[in-house]
Amino acid sequence: MTKMIAQQIFLIILFCICTHFSNGFTKDDDICYGNRPHINDYPECHFLKNRYRLVCFNGLKDEWKAKSENVQVLILCEWPKETFDPQEVLQGFTFLRKLIIANSNNLTRLSTAFSFEAQNLEKINVTGTKLHTFPKDAFSNLPVLKYLDLRNNALEEINITAFGTPALNHIHLTGNPLRCTKDTAWILDSSEGSTASKVVDKDKLLCTTPYDGRPLVSVVEIIATLEEECKRTVCDCELIYVVGAGTFTQKQLITFNSVNCSHRGLTEMPSFLPANTTTLRLTGNKIKDLTPLTTNPTYKSVLDLYLNDNLMESIVKLEGSDWLDRFRLLNLRGNKLTDLPTYALENALLHNSNAAGLYLGNNSWTCDCHFTPSFQDLLIRHPSIVKDINDIRCAFISDNDISNKQIRDLTRTEICISSNEDAWLHPLDILNIVLASLIFLILGKLLYDYWSFKKTGKLPWIVAKMP
Ligand SMILES: *[C@@H]1O[C@H](CO)[C@@H](O)[C@H](O)[C@H]1NC(C)=O
Ligand SMILES: *[C@@H]1O[C@H](CO)[C@@H](O)[C@H](O)[C@H]1NC(C)=O
Ligand SMILES: *[C@@H]1O[C@H](CO)[C@@H](O)[C@H](O)[C@H]1NC(C)=O
Ligand SMILES: *[C@@H]1O[C@H](CO)[C@@H](O)[C@H](O)[C@H]1NC(C)=O
Ligand SMILES: *[C@@H]1O[C@H](CO)[C@@H](O)[C@H](O)[C@H]1NC(C)=O
Ligand SMILES: *[C@@H]1O[C@H](CO)[C@@H](O)[C@H](O)[C@H]1NC(C)=O
Repeated sequence: MTKMIAQQIFLIILFCICTHFSNGFTKDDDICYGNRPHINDYPECHFLKNRYRLVCFNGLKDEWKAKSENVQVLILCEWPKETFDPQEVLQGFTFLRKLIIANSNNLTRLSTAFSFEAQNLEKINVTGTKLHTFPKDAFSNLPVLKYLDLRNNALEEINITAFGTPALNHIHLTGNPLRCTKDTAWILDSSEGSTASKVVDKDKLLCTTPYDGRPLVSVVEIIATLEEECKRTVCDCELIYVVGAGTFTQKQLITFNSVNCSHRGLTEMPSFLPANTTTLRLTGNKIKDLTPLTTNPTYKSVLDLYLNDNLMESIVKLEGSDWLDRFRLLNLRGNKLTDLPTYALENALLHNSNAAGLYLGNNSWTCDCHFTPSFQDLLIRHPSIVKDINDIRCAFISDNDISNKQIRDLTRTEICISSNEDAWLHPLDILNIVLASLIFLILGKLLYDYWSFKKTGKLPWIVAKMP
């Protein structure tokens, strides 16, 4: 037993030693991360004759320009400036085959394209810098450039025209804060010879904000699909965020799209929406009917719905629908609503744990004893969901006490009685009084006639005239 453990420990130590030496400072790539020989402000160069290799820290001494024909590998560490000008720096390095610039926190820009003088360059390695931009034709004069390593820089966008050189077939881009937009769609071109097919680490690329850390290829694919589907609408579409569906399957993403169809003069809800639309804005249209919400499967993923400033008169169609049980936000401000299916809504709010916002202000709500008490209860019972309770008021009717009053603050008396109090001058009441008076008049006349007949024996005038 102990023998086996000892054996394993020996193997592990051996492995560590091996990896240490293979990665040791003899390899070109790691030189820049070793200790700088002498720290001072001057460039510091070392030439390794048998390997035609020149290593410089902190810049390049001019004297090397004269001896450059011996240099095939140039390694520049801790480049001191913000820019690197290939045309100027590489002047005379006609036999250069490999260029490495690494560990240079000051470098942000290649200021010129590599010139024909550097036409023997096969490998360029700019890693561990703050490189952000390079000219679109940076590499176009390099006919034998095969290998381009741009890992761990600050590149956000890449114009693929820069990668158009014929021999180039290995591009590395990981470790850059790449933006995932529709301009990055070139990465999806899997055909042979495409630039995307040369990016050997494309499956490891990640997006920067707003899709931090999500796999670039998958996100760009989603954006491209959305763009395509959006063309079938009159709206603007946007991927708001993506989340990984599982911890291990980064490729399985859940998508949240936002579709903006505000102020498009729509009279109906759109019949088609891009897949996975979770936010739909229909503000400022002329929509009257929200039946599609319950019948059209394209709406099944919609969680946030903005229908403010439309012509909606009723939402009874939503009564008992699934949508009411799962919505997150419903904005119905500024419509023509007078009442609501309060019982159905109350029931939905009890079951719907997503519900976070309901806007009902600026409508012409009926204030009567039949509808208002239950509506008022609903509003008061869900203060965190009903967001604009101060704007939920009775309809404006000019000669009415409760006109335009906040429904929350109404008392039962105001709702149910007060409206009858000042109604005694109502035309119907006047008619009633007139009719009652007429009845008394007729009864009086009848009694008089009866008394008169008993006394004088004369029939009333009207009976005498009848045939
Ligand atoms: C470029 O440099 C990095 C870091 O120094 C290294 O990991 C990579 O292998 C190098 N690439 C080439 C092509 O030398
Ligand atoms: C970067 O620039 C600053 C000042 O601009 C300088 O002090 C520093 O030495 C430079 N860094 C390197 C690695 O040369
Ligand atoms: C890339 O560069 C080409 C050539 O200058 C230009 O026409 C194109 O618009 C650029 N593409 C992007 C996405 O910037
Ligand atoms: C929409 O999301 C589901 C999972 O939530 C996913 O299976 C489907 O591929 C997505 N569709 C699009 C077009 O993104
Ligand atoms: C939606 O589109 C309208 C009109 O095109 C615009 O005014 C509004 O700002 C957009 N809203 C959002 C949240 O993008
Ligand atoms: C209320 O809605 C009307 C149109 O229905 C609109 O003109 C007005 O600006 C809205 N007021 C508020 C406070 O939103």
